[in-house]
Amino acid sequence: LSILRFETSTDACKRVAREIASLIRLRASEHRKCVLGLATGSTPIRVYRELVRMHREDGLSFHNVITFNLDEYYPIKPEAAQSYVRFMNEHFFNHIDIFRSNIHIPKGNIELESVPGYCRDYEELILKNGGIDLQLLGIGRTGHIGFNEPGATRDSSTRLVKLDSLTRIDAAADFGGLDNVPLLAITMGVETILQAKRIRLLAFGQHKASIVQKAIEGRMTTAIPATLLQNHRNLQYLLDHDAAACLS
Ligand code: F6R
Repeated sequence: LSILRFETSTDACKRVAREIASLIRLRASEHRKCVLGLATGSTPIRVYRELVRMHREDGLSFHNVITFNLDEYYPIKPEAAQSYVRFMNEHFFNHIDIFRSNIHIPKGNIELESVPGYCRDYEELILKNGGIDLQLLGIGRTGHIGFNEPGATRDSSTRLVKLDSLTRIDAAADFGGLDNVPLLAITMGVETILQAKRIRLLAFGQHKASIVQKAIEGRMTTAIPATLLQNHRNLQYLLDHDAAACLS
């Protein structure tokens, strides 16, 4: 586990965007695909902004890129303002040259009975593509990664989960009130995330300082799912000053 501290969150985002761009170009030079695991939320927005800039100004192409998003609310329509499909299109996919067929985001509008099979297929598709080369992560105040809330086990895979009440409170503003926040979500599991070859976890702001300290320095426990990443072979935390404030 390595920890990189940055003067500003923008610096951290640019750093990880550059790493992603290098990986895409390296793979392209070998005529290979690059498989990215992507996150939504406020934290990675400037990573996407920087990648869009590199596409426009530096000729970075996403023709060899395959993406798998971590999660999606359930139920939710893809066209809903709060859906992660909308988020990814608006912040990233609409502005780059990725093939639409290479984009994967858990579907929030499928029938409940078909969810387990759908989740198995999602896992299989990741494996069929050779696994995730680099997984981008944020962290929730509950210690969630993806929507793996407290209680999620190390061996969990893509599945339907209940959102923690704190997570729903944090999402309430986006949904115009707590009552409108879905109770469930489909998320990659902790094991799915651990199988990524590189994990880059970004956290910014003082509201993340305490959970970042627990995630990095606390003992491994399912009560704080992010602690379950501690033994990963290539895990990097990218923090701004505020998020790093409680580290010893
Ligand atoms: C988003 C996701 C979540 C967020 C986390 C932090 O796809 O999986 O785990 O990364 O809730 O959200 P922000 O970045 O909005 O603080």
